[in-house]
Amino acid sequence: MKIKYLGHSAFEIITNGKSILIDPFLVCLPNYKPNNIYDIFVTHGHGDHLGSAIEISKSTNAPITAIFELANYCGQKGAKVNGMGLGAWRDFGWGKAILVPAFHSSSTPDGQYAGCPCGIVMNIEGQIIYHAGDTCLNSEMKMIGEIYQPDIAMLPIGGTYTMDIEHAVLASRWLGASQIIPMHYNTFDAIKADIEDFERQIREKGKVPIVMQINGEIEQ
Ligand code: NI
Ligand code: MN
Repeated sequence: MKIKYLGHSAFEIITNGKSILIDPFLVCLPNYKPNNIYDIFVTHGHGDHLGSAIEISKSTNAPITAIFELANYCGQKGAKVNGMGLGAWRDFGWGKAILVPAFHSSSTPDGQYAGCPCGIVMNIEGQIIYHAGDTCLNSEMKMIGEIYQPDIAMLPIGGTYTMDIEHAVLASRWLGASQIIPMHYNTFDAIKADIEDFERQIREKGKVPIVMQINGEIEQ
């Protein structure tokens, strides 16, 4: 499996020739060309997460998986969708995924109700990946750590709208994940973060910080 960072909270996961997108907001990578996209996940309705999901779904025929209300919104805009609730695994063939709670707000770019915001836990090739979406630190992360035991956690660290570094470090402990990928920082002034401070604090907890370059990828 490969994990590619598309900037902000956007990732492409490539497994057995199939690509899965999460929160494809592509302002950091305007020339990105979607290829072999099988599924698109959107954690919540905010524009910096919904991003180009609807356009990519229409051009590739890959469905958008999101919470029920947000999926319906995308469906009304012409995307193929899988609406889900929190807490039920769904099998996608390449692996399975479950939506988990995130503590944040959620509306569509034109101001409609978009259901509750989510994180996503994925089981791909036997590895457990947790993408937190936009969230504050919350005790559900202890539950996620206990039940799903993520190997890799993608955590927002930019503050203002989400957790900051201090809380992401605490989250990494509650989640029990050994590899921590920071996201949702330095895209805008309001979410500036000192990435070296993040790396130092994560290492102090005995974990591996994986700071990804935009368009960079790691092999897992
Ligand atoms: Ni948001
Ligand atoms: Mn956001």
